[in-house]
Amino acid sequence: MNNEKKFWQNTWQKHLDEYLKSPPRVGIFIKNYFKDVKSVLEIAGGSCRDSRYLAYNGYEATGSDFDEKTIKYLQKERFPNDKLKYSIEDAFRLSFKDNSFDLVFHNGFFICFNNNEDIFKMLKEQERVSRKYIVIFVHNVKNQKLKKIFKEKSKYDDLYNIRFFDKNEILQIVKDSKIKYKNIKILKFGGLVDIFYKKRIKKIIPNVMYPFSEFLVPKLCQLQKWEHTERICCVVELDK
Ligand SMILES: C[S@@+](CC[C@H](N)C(=O)[O-])C[C@H]1O[C@@H](n2cnc3c(N)ncnc32)[C@H](O)[C@@H]1O
Repeated sequence: MNNEKKFWQNTWQKHLDEYLKSPPRVGIFIKNYFKDVKSVLEIAGGSCRDSRYLAYNGYEATGSDFDEKTIKYLQKERFPNDKLKYSIEDAFRLSFKDNSFDLVFHNGFFICFNNNEDIFKMLKEQERVSRKYIVIFVHNVKNQKLKKIFKEKSKYDDLYNIRFFDKNEILQIVKDSKIKYKNIKILKFGGLVDIFYKKRIKKIIPNVMYPFSEFLVPKLCQLQKWEHTERICCVVELDK
């Protein structure tokens, strides 16, 4: 994938609205999964939809990306009174002090890097600024249907030209990065069960569907096969 800032500026001009419209699945997951987290940093946030969701759900949340133009647009024009704090950040050199956040996360970011050495460097930086957790979401190579769709779309749009990961591969990358951890968990994320986030379904029985989606979708997701799972979620509990 193209990693130039210019590429991302242009890409967000085309795709930002569709990202902002889709449910903040990662924010919902973080809210329901972690009970000991108050402050969060989203790295390479793009639309920052997930950190924005967390900001409106009582978290001290910062959304960041190295694409200055998109961050400024979100902050100044799109969400001028946002509860979310914004920061322009290169994931290789974060401006924050050591241990600034309880949890640092990114969704669909390591998929932009073919070189594991780059990923090691970024993980070290994430370890530095996080007190407790690093949470990683990457696309799942076992989902061959999704891979095919991306391959087809990538002929016309470089946004879809990404690296897919195997769950053992991302696990090994975290281990090889030499960050100090107490525990690593691999979870299934996204796929068939996301149907319950759809507005049409929520309209039919809203009072049941809202809590149902938020609490149960991440749990139900674990029951589906890897072949039907969209992304791999890797939860790293740091040893600090
Ligand atoms: C696929 S997008 C992430 C989408 C985002 N999770 C969302 O929900 O809107 C990848 C993002 O990585 C950002 N990015 C690429 N290289 C970066 C770097 N070195 N530091 C910070 N952000 C970077 C791009 O600007 C882009 O917004």
